[in-house]
Amino acid sequence: MIKIVFVCLGNICRSPMAEAIMKRLIQNQSPDSQFLIDSRATSIEELGNPIYPPAQQKLREKGIHDFTHKSQVFCKEEYDYYDYIIGMDDSNIRDLIHIVGSDPKKKICKLIENHNIADPWYTRNFEVAYQEIEQGCKAFLEKIIKREGE
Ligand code: 4NP
Repeated sequence: MIKIVFVCLGNICRSPMAEAIMKRLIQNQSPDSQFLIDSRATSIEELGNPIYPPAQQKLREKGIHDFTHKSQVFCKEEYDYYDYIIGMDDSNIRDLIHIVGSDPKKKICKLIENHNIADPWYTRNFEVAYQEIEQGCKAFLEKIIKREGE
């Protein structure tokens, strides 16, 4: 089982969108695949809240209708559980390192290595966020399938 967790600040916009998009990508590729996909926050700000309605709306527009979610905070103990811990921007990475202390197994990285996914909570641009997250998820999935197959 390959376990992936997407992480952002509030876990109500970017990381749940990534979770939903990645679940669909995997489903399309191999319906009984051995992947587990989650998402988490680095802050307790939105704890227990559902995905932000405009993010939910954007997913629906793209054909993802069945995604339900409640914001949860990433905790230090989860470091060992996940194989890949994927932040959306540099500050997510800094916050994750702060939570876990260090990353000896190099599990923590950004969805797109040299790019920060702008937070649509602030930009209000959910289409751009969707496009970037989808592109990042596709590339990331290809990379890990290749790596895991080696
Ligand atoms: P996200 O967006 O990190 O993409 O889920 C945010 C949502 C809520 C807040 C910040 C970012 N907030 O401060 O409540």
